[in-house]
Amino acid sequence: MTDLTGLTAVVTGGASGIGAATALELKGRGARVAIVDRSIPDSVEGIFAATADITNDDDVRAAIAEIAAAYGGIDILINNAGIGAAGDIAENDDAEWHRVYDVNVVGIARMTRAALPHLRASDNAAIVNTASVAGTSGLRNRALYSATKGAVVALTYAMAADHLADGIRVNAIAPGTADTPWVQRLLAASDAPEETAANLRARQPMGRLVTAEEIAFAIANLASPRAASTTGTVLTVDGGLTTLRV
Ligand SMILES: NC(=O)c1ccc[n+]([C@@H]2O[C@H](COP(=O)([O-])OP(=O)(O)OC[C@H]3O[C@@H](n4cnc5c(N)ncnc54)[C@H](O)[C@@H]3O)[C@@H](O)[C@H]2O)c1
Repeated sequence: MTDLTGLTAVVTGGASGIGAATALELKGRGARVAIVDRSIPDSVEGIFAATADITNDDDVRAAIAEIAAAYGGIDILINNAGIGAAGDIAENDDAEWHRVYDVNVVGIARMTRAALPHLRASDNAAIVNTASVAGTSGLRNRALYSATKGAVVALTYAMAADHLADGIRVNAIAPGTADTPWVQRLLAASDAPEETAANLRARQPMGRLVTAEEIAFAIANLASPRAASTTGTVLTVDGGLTTLRV
């Protein structure tokens, strides 16, 4: 028996990076795991995969119904899927603002409202939202992205208050720059990938990027029934970026 034995967890964005590492961590700790992603390249043995775009309410409701029917309920929801955006306040048009908000913020609302009846029925219900250090610290050239992640932080507190009486704990994780396909894509698009990578490492007080597995461990700990008194918190996993001056 491990801490998540008998519980069912759903991870959005579970096909890549932090979400994929989280799905494996939750499974390793005994949970039945389902991932929800808009593209699922390789299926992982023992992990249920539902293809859904979290900007599409019909997709989301169908995925939740499919998972709940297969596993007999849902106890844990990890709202992790997200997309990036570069630029200062002037650099993105209205359509881009709406597109990124639709995934990073409204996507959490769609997933959570579809999963709520199942979470309310669970004795060990927990939600973990993936925010970012960009939601609480000013990073240059990330206005739109940071705004969405600040919204995720605010939404986490509001959800935690609303669903306290339902017995659903709600917390968020705020990662620093993590070594995932997301960052690899960012480097691939850079004119000077080596320099960009060195700058990203240098921004982290530890001098290296955070690993997806380190974030997954923290997410699973917040989701675990052993964290029964932890709700309405945002846990940074950022190598010291937010709080250290070294
Ligand atoms: N990598 C970092 O440095 C970093 C730092 C802080 C926060 N984050 C956050 O962590 C989360 C995961 O990032 P990652 O680095 O693992 O990224 P990633 O690009 O490796 O994985 C993101 C996954 O989300 C899925 N996804 C995107 N839009 C979707 C949609 N509309 N519907 C369904 N699935 C969708 C993608 O298909 C992909 O599998 C994101 O919310 C991101 O903002 C990442």
